[in-house]
Amino acid sequence: MCGIVAYIGHRQAHEIIIKGLKRLEYRGYDSAGIALLNGSLSVYKKKGKVSDLEKFLQDKPLNSNIGMGHTRWATHGEPNDRNAHPHYSASGKLAIIHNGIIENYGALKQDLINKGHTFLSDTDTEVLIHFIEDIQEHNNVALEEAVRLALTKVVGAYAIVVMSLEDPSLLIAARKGSPLVLGIGKDEFFMASDATPIIEYTNEVVYLNDQEIAVIKNGELSVKNTANLPLTPYIQTIDLELEAIEKGGFEHFMLKEIFEQPRSIRDCMRGRLDSTQGRLVLGGLSEYITKLVNAERILIVACGTSWHAGLVAEYFFEEFCRIPVEVEYASEFRYRNPVIREGDVVIAISQSGETADTLAAIELAKSKGAIIFGVCNVVGSSIARATHAGAYTHAGPEIGVASTKAFTAQLTVLSMIALSVAQRKGTITEQKLHELLVEMETIPAKVEKALLLNDEIKKISALFKDSRNFIYLGRGYNFPVALEGALKLKEISYIHAEGYPAAEMKHGPIALIDEEMPVVFIATRDSSYEKVVSNIQEVKARKGRVISVVTEGDKLIPAMSEFVVEVPAVHDALMPLVSVIPLQLLSYHIAVMRGCNVDQPRNLAKSVTVE
Ligand code: G6P
Repeated sequence: MCGIVAYIGHRQAHEIIIKGLKRLEYRGYDSAGIALLNGSLSVYKKKGKVSDLEKFLQDKPLNSNIGMGHTRWATHGEPNDRNAHPHYSASGKLAIIHNGIIENYGALKQDLINKGHTFLSDTDTEVLIHFIEDIQEHNNVALEEAVRLALTKVVGAYAIVVMSLEDPSLLIAARKGSPLVLGIGKDEFFMASDATPIIEYTNEVVYLNDQEIAVIKNGELSVKNTANLPLTPYIQTIDLELEAIEKGGFEHFMLKEIFEQPRSIRDCMRGRLDSTQGRLVLGGLSEYITKLVNAERILIVACGTSWHAGLVAEYFFEEFCRIPVEVEYASEFRYRNPVIREGDVVIAISQSGETADTLAAIELAKSKGAIIFGVCNVVGSSIARATHAGAYTHAGPEIGVASTKAFTAQLTVLSMIALSVAQRKGTITEQKLHELLVEMETIPAKVEKALLLNDEIKKISALFKDSRNFIYLGRGYNFPVALEGALKLKEISYIHAEGYPAAEMKHGPIALIDEEMPVVFIATRDSSYEKVVSNIQEVKARKGRVISVVTEGDKLIPAMSEFVVEVPAVHDALMPLVSVIPLQLLSYHIAVMRGCNVDQPRNLAKSVTVE
């Protein structure tokens, strides 16, 4: 959470920073601020979105070739102007932006108060910059050394940038647990939470590692770690197109991303899957694939939508690989001293590759000797780097806060991994494997067909947009889809929604059903079809309003439902890739009709780098 951007070079810093902050708004949008050096160290900050900051800046002197900006997702201190970043040091000669949490800020703050410091905000960040300045003054050291010394005393997570009134050629950045990318241009440098603010200017980047400090001084970059060891920065060339991070004519990123799915699923399979040869090649797994093949148990750790993808994978791995799977919320797993035995393998799933709980779960499992596989979307992200092996989802940047194309890409990768393991393990026949690989190749076209439901779903959305509750029910592979459908709706439309296994409804949610309750059944033709039919009857008997997602050509369920959407027939195990599409569209249209900010729903952030 929180996005940071900094620039030093020959351009107008504020232009690059504001544009960059808009690209990082998915990381938080409670407040935004900027610091520039134009004779003085000027900080301008405002509660609200980057566009509010932009308005506020209209009559301000902005001429500066160095600067830094921040878009905030509040942790310490309510979202207001005062708590917005950047924050000044006590003298006002230093400023800082920060993404993360300084856990021991209370003790540091008390020490500083005892020394006479006063604070203008409630943030942990302001404490850090006071602390840095205090160290600098008492030890009479250069600012970069004061930053390093301060960081050796800090407990918590951070990506920070510090600038100083006294040196307009200096920017200092550091990270631990929160991402930070440096962009290297010609006589200019960029810093940001991800590469999107940078790619317009340069594709040469350095991903800072944990406990590394980057100093840009007099046009030179140097990197060292917090133990004061000089390091050689590893400069990479990234391949990210500008159009991938723009809306491309769609009203919202979320809609664009929903409609991108035929392409993103295809991209995810490209070069990896060949049904004619019966071949699955996942390069990033090869070194460790035997660990998965021989695994006695697979533990999947993830959060949010990625956790739902993990649930689908549980069914898939158990069915085709005959390996027991447990799917864990990363936030629970990391704090409950889990049993990890030799022979256990962990798969961590994360779109952003930065989710703090997932990262901590990985570190815990690693410390107990487990081999970890990563399924990430963001290339070079912390999780991608913390895992032993993995496969990228290649969905392209996902900017809408509610995850859509990343989910289907995760399902695609996980299915390929499972089939590859099953093939090696001999738990799937050649014929079945061939059948599933052929089916996977048809998925992009089937998703395309499901997207044609858009207008129909818009009409249904108009009828249900004022509902106060929704229930989503599914069984088997469609149960996690029910959870995902409910999550999408609550995230962006603020309607309370519950996802349940259809049969479990009898043990509680059925009490909620009355003539006002919309119940969405994901009731495609699969092995539990007849059972779902009975569950629909149970809802109808209590006058619930049934909306069903069915397989094309189904006659029985449409006759029992008030509204029906038909998706193409797909093998049970791959159905979530298609059956989730109408649910994504339903939540999107309902949210738009309710006037909600679809791409930036309240209180949420896309990349949750705090626990
Ligand atoms: C946040 C996002 C969700 C996402 C979850 C896990 O809550 O709003 O869309 O599913 O984090 O994120 P990850 O990047 O690890 O998949």
